Amino acid sequence: MSLHKCIMLRCILSTLIGFVAWAPPVFASRGPFLEQIDKTTWTFGNDLWNVTQEEVYASKLYFLGSGLVGSAAGHYMGYDGENNFIWTSAVITSRGEDYIDVAFSCEEGELHWVIFDDLAGAYQYFINRALPDLSILRTLWRLDPKLFLDGRTYLRDEPLPDFALYQNATKVQDETWQLANGSFITKYDFSDYVRERDFYGIYGPSFGSWYIHPGTDYYNSDHLSQTLTVHRESATGNSVQLNVVQDTSHFRVGEKVAQPAGKIWGPWLWYLNDGTVEDAKWQASEELAKWPYLWLKDTAYQSRGGVAGQLTLSDGRPASGAAIFLGDTDTSRRPSVQGRNYYYTAQADREGRFSLQDVRTGTYGLSAWSNGGALADHHHLGRGNHKHLPLTWIVPEKAKRLFTIGDFGKTALGFRNGGPPYQHGISDQSPANLTFTVGKSEASDWYYAQSLVGTWAVKFGMDHQALMLGGDAGSATLSLSFAGYSQSTAMDITINDQLLGSLGKDIFASDPSLYRSGKTSGEWRFVQYNIPWRF
Ligand SMILES: *[C@@H]1O[C@H](CO)[C@@H](O)[C@H](O)[C@H]1NC(C)=O
Ligand SMILES: *[C@@H]1O[C@H](CO)[C@@H](O)[C@H](O)[C@H]1NC(C)=O
Ligand SMILES: *[C@@H]1O[C@H](CO)[C@@H](O)[C@H](O)[C@H]1NC(C)=O
Ligand SMILES: *[C@@H]1O[C@H](CO)[C@@H](O)[C@H](O)[C@H]1NC(C)=O
Repeated sequence: MSLHKCIMLRCILSTLIGFVAWAPPVFASRGPFLEQIDKTTWTFGNDLWNVTQEEVYASKLYFLGSGLVGSAAGHYMGYDGENNFIWTSAVITSRGEDYIDVAFSCEEGELHWVIFDDLAGAYQYFINRALPDLSILRTLWRLDPKLFLDGRTYLRDEPLPDFALYQNATKVQDETWQLANGSFITKYDFSDYVRERDFYGIYGPSFGSWYIHPGTDYYNSDHLSQTLTVHRESATGNSVQLNVVQDTSHFRVGEKVAQPAGKIWGPWLWYLNDGTVEDAKWQASEELAKWPYLWLKDTAYQSRGGVAGQLTLSDGRPASGAAIFLGDTDTSRRPSVQGRNYYYTAQADREGRFSLQDVRTGTYGLSAWSNGGALADHHHLGRGNHKHLPLTWIVPEKAKRLFTIGDFGKTALGFRNGGPPYQHGISDQSPANLTFTVGKSEASDWYYAQSLVGTWAVKFGMDHQALMLGGDAGSATLSLSFAGYSQSTAMDITINDQLLGSLGKDIFASDPSLYRSGKTSGEWRFVQYNIPWRF
């Protein structure tokens, strides 16, 4: 019996070897494919990988012969944090020499998977048909926790927390646990700024699964837009790779936004490899060079141009380093919750010049604000719908400045503990009481967040007579710029024990950035108090 098998095997091998030597490969490559298995099951992919999609979940993913989903949930999509897209049909909507474009339809729209002959992974994009007003839109993969051990964003590259850690930990808030040794684990620590991304994903010694977004115009909001990326799913242990392409909920005062029919999110690339971060980085640079993708036959997507200009302050200075934002024509809507169109950001150079490439044809509102640096003392915003460039940013007559703590901007950068990485619980390191002495203390003596009960005082001197001669002798202005505000903190603002005003949750709607590991920014607030002289 066993001898027989052995002979058979040898026989097959020799035949194959002979064949390969004289003809094209025996196993002719099949190329990209879509196959319907039954009413609500489809398999698609190419020779390297394939996915089996059911009504909601794609619970099977094979790559180079290995299953990558394991005990995890696989792929799904939905709005506002749910798995609410139910796929009713799949068709090939277009094909080129080396790819097919497969559209899965649901009531809300179409998710496309664009599958090339030799590419490990697929481009994906979603076309809106009937989405309700929403604050979150995302696709995601939940993959085998035994294969995907690490998470990588542009801010972190480290093991995902061990699932066992959650069992013994104390839940302290939304998706956040405290370990016996006092440290925290939370998915929010892996958050990042969407427009700063290069690529991100989850990986292990054999496989990596990545998201590469070379174009970012379908992301809502401005430079400061942030969302989640990768994490350990606390309930199941799945290794999760989120692709949140719309988020007007996390890290700001959330609002739902109406979405026009026909709007396209993407294409981005979902990319598979052997778990090498360097290779994913190389692929990301390839995608950047190819974006906007020529294969997407959509007139509006392909219709693009450049926008360039120069911004000057009305006092003659260039708007050096200003943050430039092309957003909604309705500039009265906060950038943090603009999200029905396409958005572009830039930073002006020293001369206030800026340029944006590959901007979709359309009408935009232009806003600009100080990003620190040479405009560190400028708290005013310029905005409007300008047909003519260059632009002038009207600033008030320069008043005499008594003091400023830190650079003016919309972030807590420059203050102690401010800035990346995201980390839960760091606000507890800020002191209850703090005294800042103008002329002696540095911006870095001031902390990024205040959360304990106490008093933060600023000591400054002033020369009354010089001020009177300086012009407006009637009053002074105290300007307070908050990078974010989370409720349960309330502040009284006083000057020489006289109350100027109180700030708290009745004045500011709470934004979740501070308790969701944010150390740089959330929803920006700006308050000014008029201070009469002589008290
Ligand atoms: C999907 O990939 C697996 C593993 O490589 C393979 O066994 C299977 O035949 C593929 N499915 C299709 C429909 O090609
Ligand atoms: C959880 O706590 C138990 C009891 O204190 C301990 O034996 C076990 O090692 C802990 N597990 C982890 C993963 O810390
Ligand atoms: C607390 O325990 C976790 C899990 O073992 C570990 O990763 C972390 O470094 C520890 N933190 C401190 C402050 O010891
Ligand atoms: C902060 O200052 C107040 C008033 O002096 C004092 O009562 C309080 O104990 C101080 N808090 C801390 C933590 O030192």
